[in-house]
Amino acid sequence: MWWFSLYLCLILTNFRVDSAPKPTKEWWKDTFIYQIYPRSFMDSNGDGIGDLNGITSKLEHFVDLNVSAIWISPIYVSPMVDFGYDIANFTDIDPIYGTLSDFTNMTTKAKALGIKVILDFVPNHTSDKHPWFQKSIKKIQPYSDYYIWMDGVLVNGTTQPPNNWLSVFGNSAWEFNKERGQYYLHQFAIGQPDLNYHNIPLNTEMQNVLTFWLDRGVDGFRIDAINHLIEDTRYLDEPKIINSGVPDNDYDSLKHIYSRDQIGTYSILQTWRKAIDSHGKKLKAEPKIILTEAYTSLTNTIMYYNYGSNIPMNFMFITPLNNHSTTMDFKRHIDAWINNVPKGNLANWVVSNHDQHRVGTRYGTRRTDEFSMLVATLPGVGIIYYGDEIGMIDRPMSWNETVDPAGCNAGPQRYYLKSRDPARTPYQWDNTTNAGFSTANITWLPVHSNYKTVNLAAEKLMMNSHYSLFKKLVALKKMPIIQSGTTEVILVGEMVLGVVRRLPDVPPVVLLVNFSETTEIVDARTWMNIPEQLTVYASSVESNIPCEVTMDTTEVNLPAAASVILVGF
Ligand code: NOJ
Repeated sequence: MWWFSLYLCLILTNFRVDSAPKPTKEWWKDTFIYQIYPRSFMDSNGDGIGDLNGITSKLEHFVDLNVSAIWISPIYVSPMVDFGYDIANFTDIDPIYGTLSDFTNMTTKAKALGIKVILDFVPNHTSDKHPWFQKSIKKIQPYSDYYIWMDGVLVNGTTQPPNNWLSVFGNSAWEFNKERGQYYLHQFAIGQPDLNYHNIPLNTEMQNVLTFWLDRGVDGFRIDAINHLIEDTRYLDEPKIINSGVPDNDYDSLKHIYSRDQIGTYSILQTWRKAIDSHGKKLKAEPKIILTEAYTSLTNTIMYYNYGSNIPMNFMFITPLNNHSTTMDFKRHIDAWINNVPKGNLANWVVSNHDQHRVGTRYGTRRTDEFSMLVATLPGVGIIYYGDEIGMIDRPMSWNETVDPAGCNAGPQRYYLKSRDPARTPYQWDNTTNAGFSTANITWLPVHSNYKTVNLAAEKLMMNSHYSLFKKLVALKKMPIIQSGTTEVILVGEMVLGVVRRLPDVPPVVLLVNFSETTEIVDARTWMNIPEQLTVYASSVESNIPCEVTMDTTEVNLPAAASVILVGF
């Protein structure tokens, strides 16, 4: 019967090969992901707005930086009320950005260059111009319940919104539609009606959207505003925050216990994970990445790992940490993240994005590099925003220049507290007109006036620049000690934060960050148990600490707000 055993063995071996593709490495392990805000990256046709062909023409930049993936904010058909996050057709490209064939050109070139492409998936809402919404207004089936429609309530003879919920962009989250005679929920702009995930056919449509883009070769999705997906269907008023210090129509005046972070969100995510994975299995494709965007508690964020998110975005350097946080605050939050990441998953660290002030504006320009240095040294994935690699900062806008709905809704007195325009200005490629971004007379947002000196071309010629530092950080991230070494976050005295990565039998990698406004001299050797002599691998640009020199770790001299990475190789 030996021949039978051999036969069985061959069948089983073949079966294994056919039915279970070899699990390929999760390609996002220990990499940097680079966010592109498409309106502001590169304009190829001179209309003052960035586009897909512009991105394609600049893909070599990512090869040069050695980042693994780009995530592109929405490029779909949109009336641009929220600059692409209000989508009128999930499966076509907005003419401002190009065509589906431009998209294919971009992904083909990206593939050839080894750059993965991640798209934004915006499932919480559509544009009010989306055909689903137009049909929903008219109660045409099956669209009638695709959105959240409610009757108003009669108060002293006038009809009022169903409850006190507020939009993230300010004012009531309900808008009355005369034609349907009901209010619809919009947690963002009035032009962004919320979809109703209690409606099963809707989710099937959304899964089709995912597979449409998977068929076009994308490597994953960043899921927008995921914690807004589901609402408590009792639609109760949300409690007011006592002494919130903000006006009553400001989103931050309420505790969002019914409109956000509902438990049902996680099972919706699971359906998308399944749809993406089963599509991948059919094509024997490489694993696809899911990043989830939710500004929420650590517990809620971590839970996304268990339901299919590879990267539940960690916004700790945006909130709760800020430029008033102490070394102890940083240690506590970093430790908490690392200790809570479920086994077999990766940590992640977001430096900046299109909704927040740029990192050098949030923390001060001297601290700009500190965050990419932290992110490079800590275990897991780093996520940076276009321009972080050259130290771009916010360009303050006047009320007249403001176009972001979050800023416009806040009005002339408070717009600057809410507007996201300052962090969305055109990429600074060189010192020519419009920083080399566009040949137009006017760009959709003004270019920062510092572009003559802060630009990629100039930084490429400098020995000590954000750009040259960032390239070193990407290389560091790929080293075995960063990929699999142990991590300790240590307070080196009161004002210096230290991170040590260790692997047996090799010298450690050490990051030191000075939180003080003055020079600190620290005995890092004793505090951190590291060798007495290490070499400077990288230092923050404004620190002026020279690289490749040997340092006596018993007496490290750290200028105000400086960061330094020391190695033993
Ligand atoms: C989060 C996005 O990052 C933001 O830019 C957008 O305004 C809202 N979600 C609504 O889609």
